[in-house]
Amino acid sequence: MKHARIIGTGSYLPEKVLENSDLEKMVDTTDQWIRERTGIERRHIAADSETTCDLAEKAARNAIDAAGINSNDIDLIVVATTTADCVFPSVACLLQHRLKITNACPAFDVQAVCAGFVYALGVANTYIRAGSATNVLVVGAETFSRILNWEDRNTCVLFGDGAGAVVLQASDAPGIHSTHLHADGSYSELLHVPEGISRGYAEMQQQAYVQMRGSEVFRMAVSKLAEVADEALIANNLDKTEIDWLVPHQANLRIIKATARKLSMTLDKVVVTVQDHGNTSAASIPLALDVAVRDGRIKTGEKLLLEGFGGGFTWGAALITF
Ligand code: UT7
Repeated sequence: MKHARIIGTGSYLPEKVLENSDLEKMVDTTDQWIRERTGIERRHIAADSETTCDLAEKAARNAIDAAGINSNDIDLIVVATTTADCVFPSVACLLQHRLKITNACPAFDVQAVCAGFVYALGVANTYIRAGSATNVLVVGAETFSRILNWEDRNTCVLFGDGAGAVVLQASDAPGIHSTHLHADGSYSELLHVPEGISRGYAEMQQQAYVQMRGSEVFRMAVSKLAEVADEALIANNLDKTEIDWLVPHQANLRIIKATARKLSMTLDKVVVTVQDHGNTSAASIPLALDVAVRDGRIKTGEKLLLEGFGGGFTWGAALITF
């Protein structure tokens, strides 16, 4: 049975940067509050004309270049997003066309909010392990700025836009060792955009924005991320000291630190981008991964633990030899 190995990473951030000081002029907040409670200093925001697929395309091209393969060698595209360009087709189908992939490979989106990339990786890994795909493009891309209420300080200071991508290839050498995906829909109302296509968009348009009971989400995130990290280690008979890098979802520096503490990892073994990216939902893990691969921190052969937690609730982890 083949393994799924990451052979290229890529990412893209929109040009426009919104600093905490800009947000001080928009809502009743301070740079100090945002830094102390979240670790966020700035975030990137897509231009009005820029869609999730635009961001995904740039990240995907970077990953494909890094992988050194031809776009038409890709035989599966999985895009993790909650902020698709349109109701349908999927971002994955739009992306296939943008990348001029003409081999009619399957392409679909996965919606698991901030755990979306780990979910997409899990799906892609299963395809490769089953022998159903050889080169898979996995993208996490979001324009969360479009579903924020810019008058709600509880949420608008937290999120940013961006995209990250990896190319997975079937290989005899180990790559993804395991993925662990979970959901518990009973918590759906703690973090949600309550209106949508089937429920209809309410006359009160603020319903179509992210709503979050932050401190309750925080507590669950810390607890579930620790649980799923243990699950991944046990499944692979690994000790936490054998993990070279933690590449976590970037929602809040305090959550990242709590997870690292539970793994007895010092922060220099954790990829942290939340200060510059904010929470980019499904894009945050592949964005962080690409940053640390390109700046030379993450090297071939090292063991990575990726993990994310998001609305649903959804959460998951992937244990990988890079
Ligand atoms: O990515 C998906 C998963 N999402 C997460 O993991 C996010 C999890 N939650 C969090 O990161 C944190 O809970 C937040 C950053 C959202 C909030 O931090 P907190 O330490 O849990 O604060 P809190 O919600 O308990 O609010 C504390 C105070 C409140 O004021 P009162 O009621 O104590 O007077 C808030 O109204 O902070 C206030 N507050 C703010 N003040 C200034 C909330 N947002 C702001 C703000 N600026 N932007």
